Amino acid sequence: MIKDHKKTQPIGVFDSGIGGLTVANAIFSHLPQEEIIYFGDTFHLPYGEKSADAIRYYSLKIVKFLLEKNCKMIVIACNSASSAAYKVLLDFYEGQALFINVIDPLVEAVANHNEYKKVGIIATKATIRSNIYKHKLLEARPSLKVESLATPLLVPMIEEGFFNDNISDAVIEKYLSNPIFENIDALLLACTHYPLIRKNIEAYFQQKVKIYDSNDVVVHAIREKLQQFDLLNDSTPKPPKFFVSDYTTSFEETTNFFYKESIDLEYCPIW
Ligand code: DGL
Repeated sequence: MIKDHKKTQPIGVFDSGIGGLTVANAIFSHLPQEEIIYFGDTFHLPYGEKSADAIRYYSLKIVKFLLEKNCKMIVIACNSASSAAYKVLLDFYEGQALFINVIDPLVEAVANHNEYKKVGIIATKATIRSNIYKHKLLEARPSLKVESLATPLLVPMIEEGFFNDNISDAVIEKYLSNPIFENIDALLLACTHYPLIRKNIEAYFQQKVKIYDSNDVVVHAIREKLQQFDLLNDSTPKPPKFFVSDYTTSFEETTNFFYKESIDLEYCPIW
């Protein structure tokens, strides 16, 4: 249940840093009437290297901040945080906002394809260690073969602007040529940074493997949930706001890879 929310309230989106801006960008493109308040926990980046307890602790505090900003919905735009903290956030903040994680919509999109016999997953160490994708996919389709691999070099590589070049192609090839991925029908990009290298990955598999990232499926889940609670905004929204818990000019420069519009990051030291 959710009480007394209004359509005009913002959607809070958070990630360990700026990777979740790919999700914010997808919301902005497909649901332009919604106001977005983004929080990037750049002080603790990368979450992929942190323990589940640490990620839970960070997520609880960030959601408190977003609820104080009056958000009607919280989108956990980070797989590492979705895997470690979604349940805790629901327990702790039940009824105070609607919650969307980036994992369930992706699992649903893939599990519906009965023709898939074997799928691969790439993600951060934290997401792979949680085993959550494998668990949920096998729950939905027990006969599916699921192979997962932690690919920790990809996040720093993308943040340093290495994509669509021979360095990124070499790193991607190193990971994806792993024999566990032989004969996969689909690959899940289970990290919100990875949509930026989706084209390289499609090229690596010569379009023979279906590639999934969370962006479109998450926007679909957001729209459905807002409709269900009659909370889709139908008036002109306020401009989006972007907060980070640590600020450097290089973060701001990097945001242009992730978010199509040029944006100002506001330093917000919640720690
Ligand atoms: N974007 C985060 C995710 O989806 C990964 C970045 C990080 O390791 O902090 O898991």
